[in-house]
Amino acid sequence: MDPARLAAYDVVHAVSVRDAYANLVLPSALRERGLSGRDAAFATELAHGTLRRGGYDDVLAHCVNRPLTKLDPEVRDVLRLGAHQILGMRVPAHAAVATSVDLARGVAGIGPSKFVNAVLRKVAARDLPGWQAELAPPYDRDPIGHLAAVHAHPRWVVEAFAAALDGSLAETAAALAADNEPARVTLAAWPGRSSVADLRAEGAEPGRWSPYAVVLTEGGDPHRIQAVAQGRAGVQDEGSQLVATALAEAPLAGGDSGSGSGTDERWLDLCAGPGGKAALLAGLAGRRSAALLAAELQPHRAELVDRALTPRGRRSRGVLGTVVADGTAPAWPPGVFDRVLVDAPCTGLGALRRRPEARWRRAAGDVAGLTPLQAELLTTALDSVRVGGVVAYVTCSPHLAETRDVVAAVLAGRSDVERLDARPLLPGVPDLGDGPEVQLWPHRHGTDAMFLALLRRTDGNDANHGNHGTRTEDGRSSQ
Ligand SMILES: C[S@@+](CC[C@H](N)C(=O)[O-])C[C@H]1O[C@@H](n2cnc3c(N)ncnc32)[C@H](O)[C@@H]1O
Repeated sequence: MDPARLAAYDVVHAVSVRDAYANLVLPSALRERGLSGRDAAFATELAHGTLRRGGYDDVLAHCVNRPLTKLDPEVRDVLRLGAHQILGMRVPAHAAVATSVDLARGVAGIGPSKFVNAVLRKVAARDLPGWQAELAPPYDRDPIGHLAAVHAHPRWVVEAFAAALDGSLAETAAALAADNEPARVTLAAWPGRSSVADLRAEGAEPGRWSPYAVVLTEGGDPHRIQAVAQGRAGVQDEGSQLVATALAEAPLAGGDSGSGSGTDERWLDLCAGPGGKAALLAGLAGRRSAALLAAELQPHRAELVDRALTPRGRRSRGVLGTVVADGTAPAWPPGVFDRVLVDAPCTGLGALRRRPEARWRRAAGDVAGLTPLQAELLTTALDSVRVGGVVAYVTCSPHLAETRDVVAAVLAGRSDVERLDARPLLPGVPDLGDGPEVQLWPHRHGTDAMFLALLRRTDGNDANHGNHGTRTEDGRSSQ
């Protein structure tokens, strides 16, 4: 049996029978099968592509004369991998069928190999557009259903993207297509620990937008980069870097007593695990004698944060500490922080290109389960920041219920917050819409679909503040 196909099988089977996460099992599967370079890349694309497409179960259901749930799980996964080779990877059909028969023999015994042969020959009778023409509802009758089938996303996700893109179905199609393209591995050079120049010297290329970003070209294994192995840089999407940097640069206003921008000393990351944004924020804080407190509910995730903030056991500059804390019941007094990040737990619909099986695991109902917590966390953040201080509300999701609607609901109940225009704080990044909030997109920006709202605390007395006007960079106020 071909070790690359076996490694891909290990991953797909672990996901389908054990609910494993592909990203977590892939590295050990590659290692166990001794794969590197092109073979590792083939196995990765085979596993990830198969999972993204939901195993081509719609096509397979058409080619098998009993419900797929009645098949042995081993045989079903071999068929899924075979279908992706034929329909998604341009492996010649005869090679895909022959290697799948071998794989079936290896993982499920001699019996099913004839069956696998017969089913995959039926799959190979059409190419992917041919199957889509057969199975997807016609665009003019059901555009959402059509896009869902063609781009392999659940219908509710297509609807959520379309709503966030002002109903543009052409852009929705582009966003869905971008989710099916593997994302390049992006690193952040954590300020004070390494620089983009250090990472470029190790063969990485500069990122597009963030001054701290580089992308890996060959192979994409971040651990071959010394700065990563030594905890001086970390894997982090450019969208995450942009929102953290925007918070660090957002204009503060004076406190209760005064003019100017007041203090800028204490920063808080309210939902810090596993610590990517905390590491970047701490680096930025350290440059201006501020320091970051990182809070996280889950003890094991707080440990990851602590590791990110204390490379080689030494606490970085700009770090106040890490606490295990429920962000909705703060362990600190109100009004003590100058800047607060709420990177809220969310559906993660903005990072589907990085988590191949995630779109099929989430359900529309998950959103309603998350929004009360998101609103509570944002409320705590606003209470934790001093008058004149800034809160960044961030999600890795473009779903309006988790983004715009949470911000609107929280602000509706307060008269002490003004919305800042976030767009100028992402300098050079185009296509940021009408503001004041920012929604990044893979198809527009090549980043994860991060959402950012910047909110500044006021004393609640200014008429312009109480009605949630938007402050522009030069201090003008608008509605
Ligand atoms: C989107 S992740 C944060 C990612 C992180 N900022 C980063 O860049 O690495 C959300 C985190 O919030 C944590 N969380 C969930 N409920 C929380 C709560 N009530 N208080 C604090 N953290 C919470 C989750 O455990 C998860 O680690």
